[in-house]
Amino acid sequence: MKIAVIGGGYVGLVSGACFAELGNDVTIIEIDPAKVLAINEQQPPIYEIGLEDLLKKHIGNRLCASITYDSVASADIIFICVGTPPNSDGSANLSYIESASAMIGAARRTVPTYCVVVVKSTVPPGTTAKIVCPGVLQSAHKTEGEIGFVMNPEFLREGRAIADFMHPDRIVIGSADDRAFNYVAEAYHKIDVPVIRTSLSAAEMIKYTSNAFLAMKISFSNEIGNICKQLHIDVYEVMRGVGLDHRIGTQFLNAGVGFGGSCFPKDVSSLISLAKAIGEDPLILHAVLKVNTQQPNRLLKLLRARIGNLNGKKIAVLGLAFKDNTEDIRDSKAIPVIQELLLNGASVSAYDPMAVEAMRKLFPTVTYCHSAGHALDGADACLVMTEWPEFGKINKEFERMKTRVIIEGRRILSCNGTEGICW
Ligand code: UDX
Repeated sequence: MKIAVIGGGYVGLVSGACFAELGNDVTIIEIDPAKVLAINEQQPPIYEIGLEDLLKKHIGNRLCASITYDSVASADIIFICVGTPPNSDGSANLSYIESASAMIGAARRTVPTYCVVVVKSTVPPGTTAKIVCPGVLQSAHKTEGEIGFVMNPEFLREGRAIADFMHPDRIVIGSADDRAFNYVAEAYHKIDVPVIRTSLSAAEMIKYTSNAFLAMKISFSNEIGNICKQLHIDVYEVMRGVGLDHRIGTQFLNAGVGFGGSCFPKDVSSLISLAKAIGEDPLILHAVLKVNTQQPNRLLKLLRARIGNLNGKKIAVLGLAFKDNTEDIRDSKAIPVIQELLLNGASVSAYDPMAVEAMRKLFPTVTYCHSAGHALDGADACLVMTEWPEFGKINKEFERMKTRVIIEGRRILSCNGTEGICW
């Protein structure tokens, strides 16, 4: 099939490369010329395991990037993968969705053949039917039936997105239209997993609900972890015993300093905002965010309990990315922690295998180090903020600290004499 993907960010680039791997001809349409150039030169503008290999394999034959919408005219399927960033009230900003819809319509105006427009971006229920469908049709001067519409959410984890795309638990295809559904099912036919067909708005809601549920599992574990810590019980032992009940499941029960990233905080806020707009007060969702905001404060409280006033102290921060295997610092819990440390007169020496450059832009006064040992030199305390596997091997580097106070926000260290936020 011929596929156009609007947006060359995490979702668009990974989906485009994977659709090429599945045997389709793919053009990624991206407004940033630097990204277009990088993709066409087989250099992924983001770090994602396996992505460079896919670009090397398919750029020049089945995959390319472009700044123009020209390829939309000949596409069978057009995936919208643009960002839906949060507005100041937490609601989803749909302006990129609106402009992509108008551009797709304009590119199809003189094309007589059928195509399907698929929304992959995370959007509030009703967006595909009420914004994308009329936006495309009006701009194309066409009527329903000439273009099909589908909502097909993604469930990709950053750092593991290609594996998640190729081996998903399920594929959700929301559509009222058999022909449109069949087109999209065909694009995925090599992936052997259950395909769930739903209405457009149910597919939109599935994405929000999945992310809210996963975020809830984490905040729930954090709350239980906070209680366990007071009771001197290891929350990881507890959650292993709890998670092996298959009704609950072992994943997303790791207690710690809270969730970050581009999806969970944004999607839970957006769900709260759309609930409020219809007169609902979602108590659990509020609590999910409240626990998540409080965890970094708990970490700092522990730090103060151990070393007292932060003024003039040197704190080593290990881990800046919102999780391991990514350079992404969006909503990283290291951000509020570093902010508070600096505000209180501490000096910060930080190390992260990948996210230093991103954090340097936010906090230029922090000393960024090339190794964990370097960051620990002469430190009064160490805070572990990201679950990078390499931190599990750190041991004698801690001898370089002035005082051995080590507090984990993520459970990853293997040496003795450490304290965890919830353990
Ligand atoms: C998430 C969803 O998993 C994915 O399906 C969706 O499409 C996008 O959002 P991502 O944000 O890439 O993916 O990362 P994920 O691995 O889900 O972790 C999110 C955050 O939760 C990280 O900060 C991580 O450290 C934290 N986390 C995760 C925990 O604190 N405890 C856990 O048990 C799991």
